[in-house]
Amino acid sequence: MIKGEKIRFDIHNILYSIYKFNKNLNSTSIKNLINKHSEKDISLLNNVTLNSMRYHLHTSKIINQYIKKKLQDHEKILLVSAITQIVFLDFKDYAVINCSVEIAKKLKMYHGLINASLKKIAKNKIGLKKTIIEFNDLPTWFKNQSDDFLDTNKIHFIDNFNQEPSIHIVFKSSDRLNNFEEKLIKTSPVSGFLINKKDLKKIKSFKEGDWWVQDFSSFFPIHNLPYENENKKFLDACAAPGGKTFQILSKKLNIISNDRSDSRLKILKSNLKRLNLHTEVLKKDFLLFKENKKYDFIILDAPCSSVGTIRRNPEIFFKTKSPNFKELNELQKKMLDKASLLLNKKGFILYMVCSFLKSETINQINKFLLRRDDFEIYKFTILERNKQYSKFVNKQFFITLPDTILNYKIDGYFAAYLRKK
Ligand SMILES: C[S@@+](CC[C@H](N)C(=O)[O-])C[C@H]1O[C@@H](n2cnc3c(N)ncnc32)[C@H](O)[C@@H]1O
Repeated sequence: MIKGEKIRFDIHNILYSIYKFNKNLNSTSIKNLINKHSEKDISLLNNVTLNSMRYHLHTSKIINQYIKKKLQDHEKILLVSAITQIVFLDFKDYAVINCSVEIAKKLKMYHGLINASLKKIAKNKIGLKKTIIEFNDLPTWFKNQSDDFLDTNKIHFIDNFNQEPSIHIVFKSSDRLNNFEEKLIKTSPVSGFLINKKDLKKIKSFKEGDWWVQDFSSFFPIHNLPYENENKKFLDACAAPGGKTFQILSKKLNIISNDRSDSRLKILKSNLKRLNLHTEVLKKDFLLFKENKKYDFIILDAPCSSVGTIRRNPEIFFKTKSPNFKELNELQKKMLDKASLLLNKKGFILYMVCSFLKSETINQINKFLLRRDDFEIYKFTILERNKQYSKFVNKQFFITLPDTILNYKIDGYFAAYLRKK
């Protein structure tokens, strides 16, 4: 094998299994493949894999410009990754081309085509770097789900969706933030963006359990809780890996944390241990919760398409299969109805999804309010009277596309407080 071929072969196999078999980057089989490599190779692998997915709409356009024949999936994936490395990551052309040709030979592809087209593309890489993506180039399922987008939303989304995400962290208390050893852009007394990206596990205060990673948008709704009363009973219905639970525990409130996924609960428990936070953890299907026990506040961070996290999870647009909206919308509806049956009078449901698509957000709330006239929307109040934040609070809801605040990136998100009358 030539230098760099082994790691590129694994990158190819990872991209192929995401594209073809709907795998996630954090699935066990892919994680096992990644963890075989050295620390340095893992960073190369993550860089190429994530950017190949982020730029695959651009690279597909370039491929169509240079190759007229219908490509097989393996050929397409190999070219997507090679073009990303040459055009968008500025890697040395010859190393990428040589490795791609060797991989093509091993996979019994027509390697002459790979060699010739990559050489032509490399010659024109400066111009090709300016390849533009339009809203119409996005996956059909996404365009159908966002048919209510105004032109300004479309432009905003195209400008934002394939950028690298920022790292936003949340502290157990403002004291811990004030003692933080790294540079931070504060978003609140207990949260901020990390200025210099680094291996988080190597930061002393991480090991000591002072903070966890949580996107700003996902942090914001619980940060602006309508009340903080330690006598109230909170339930986090879909809690793992735990960001919202940690926020509630850091506010010294009582919460029970539930999730039905074993693997995700394992991560929640190891996070609780590191953070030295303690709570009752349940492993139940929320839809099967007995209705005799009631709560004052139910956090419903429901399963969704996750399209708001597209920067961190670029496989959402890369996969050939679309999210199953029929199933997701039905589950979101059932979860809202279930939460309504578990609530005390004057209790709250905080419905959240890392999505901004109508069917998972505003439509779910509006339909719920039609089914249940004993509930009302409770208006968001923002603790930090910061203009940058108020633009996300649209009269009744918190809603945002993937966006930027204080020059840092935040996820697309939706949250609504529903109060039982
Ligand atoms: C958006 S994630 C929750 C993220 C979490 N709240 C946090 O802040 O880290 C949705 C979660 O719902 C869980 N889930 C899906 N269906 C469920 C069900 N029927 N009952 C309980 N949990 C479920 C999934 O395992 C997943 O962990």
